[in-house]
Amino acid sequence: MTKITFIDRKNHIRSIDADNNSSVMRAAVSHGVKGIAAECGGNGICATCHVYVDETWLKKLGPVGEDEDTLLDSTVSARLPNSRLSCQIRITPALEGLTLRLPERQT
Ligand code: FES
Repeated sequence: MTKITFIDRKNHIRSIDADNNSSVMRAAVSHGVKGIAAECGGNGICATCHVYVDETWLKKLGPVGEDEDTLLDSTVSARLPNSRLSCQIRITPALEGLTLRLPERQT
């Protein structure tokens, strides 16, 4: 298990213990974290699992893939330099303490 923290737009903090090798999106949905729509179920075609990654964690996530990069241009809330799609972030023990901010809207 790896602890991941979500901060919503009202600064409410929610930490979950997520299964390793799952995606951040799947962990959030299975724990009832509000603010991740994930309409395509993780198939990488909807951009409704958008998150903003705490700056200190960006380097640990590795680069944005080409398809993810394209899809990030279609997020409803503004794309920022730290935007990622949570279905593309694989959970590993190295991400213990990962902190993500949820955008204002996903749809
Ligand atoms: S859940 Fe659809 S792109 Fe991530």
